[in-house]
Amino acid sequence: MKILVTGGTGYIGSHTVIELLNLGFEVDIVDNLFNSKITVLDKIESITGKRPGFFELDLLNKSGLEKIFEASKYDLVVHFAGLKAVGESVEKPLTYYENNVTGTIYLLDCMKKYCVEKIVFSSSATVYGEQDASRLTEEMQTGIGITNPYGRTKFMIEEILKDVANSDANFSAIILRYFNPIGNHPSGLIGEDPNGIPNNLMPIIMRVAQGKSPELKVYGDDYPTPDGSGVRDYIHVVDLAKGHVAAINKMKPGVEIYNLGTGRGTSVFEMIKAFEKASGEKLPFVITERRAGDLAEIFADTTKAERELGWKAKLTVGDAMKDTIRFLYGK
Ligand code: NAD
Ligand code: WQD
Repeated sequence: MKILVTGGTGYIGSHTVIELLNLGFEVDIVDNLFNSKITVLDKIESITGKRPGFFELDLLNKSGLEKIFEASKYDLVVHFAGLKAVGESVEKPLTYYENNVTGTIYLLDCMKKYCVEKIVFSSSATVYGEQDASRLTEEMQTGIGITNPYGRTKFMIEEILKDVANSDANFSAIILRYFNPIGNHPSGLIGEDPNGIPNNLMPIIMRVAQGKSPELKVYGDDYPTPDGSGVRDYIHVVDLAKGHVAAINKMKPGVEIYNLGTGRGTSVFEMIKAFEKASGEKLPFVITERRAGDLAEIFADTTKAERELGWKAKLTVGDAMKDTIRFLYGK
């Protein structure tokens, strides 16, 4: 099976490409390297012994994208490419709508033209917006109370995929709603390496551990959670990557949606303790005001993914911390 992976040199994409190559899938990557580095290809090769095909191209370059589809017959697309910085999306909404939504429309157009009928799409728990419950299930209504344009691009793309499936009985889409991906490949060779200053907890912990930031700001200790800090569902990126393989193996016409998380919540204070335990070092932090738009507690209901995909996250936050430290310090 030949698979085109958009955004395949990025954090989640590169880990998924490793799983796909290890299982014998043929993989081509298309990425504009906006938030990733070309050297990831060497690392993928040294881990798997195989080098994926690579096209440096922006999805907004539609004629370039068509040439890629013209040159090879792909069986399926895994679509990671997108901008993901929540704060930046508030400042540059049009950039986010153009890159994420228009980029996806161009991709779907090429797929239609070249008769590629299967897509796996990287969505996010952010589409659930505000809910009354903390445990989120796929049937819950989405799109209400999303606090930023990034999140709305994910919601819009999900709706576009449903409309395309309604218009074409052969079209198959699996929408994967990721919770909070952390960790990296156990080799320590690849990991989350964003260009610019990150917003997410784990890359910020990494910066503090490296001395690039003086301390972690804990955004609030007065939430109605057991220790007062925010609770999220942190999933090891290798488990997440395996979730994509499970999805690929279950594709059928229509749209299916799955949460990819562990089903367990971990607080910010527990994350700090887990990092300290794995590294043997103290992580400096200060408690600050809550971050605008943050929810107290969310985690995935993973029943549907377990039942229908036969997939379950196996690795722990502790495993992710150990792998992160290996990526940071090579030990
Ligand atoms: P990433 O930034 O590491 O990877 C995305 C890749 O897409 C990058 O290599 C980037 O260069 C590429 N890209 C972006 N726009 C492009 C374009 N127009 N044309 C070609 N390439 C383009 O991000 P990631 O964490 O690996 O996320 C992958 C996907 O998963 C994204 O769609 C993201 O929104 C989604 N997601 C991520 C998280 C998370 O916390 N990391 C959570 C939920 C969903
Ligand atoms: C996790 C917890 C913070 C930073 C975001 C996006 C979402 C999705 C995942 C892509 C929260 C706390 C954080 C810090 C802190 N991405 N925190 N100090 O908010 O669950 O979701 O990333 O789709 O769209 O909104 O993840 O990593 O930013 O925060 O205390 O410096 O860590 O308050 O409780 P979040 P996060």
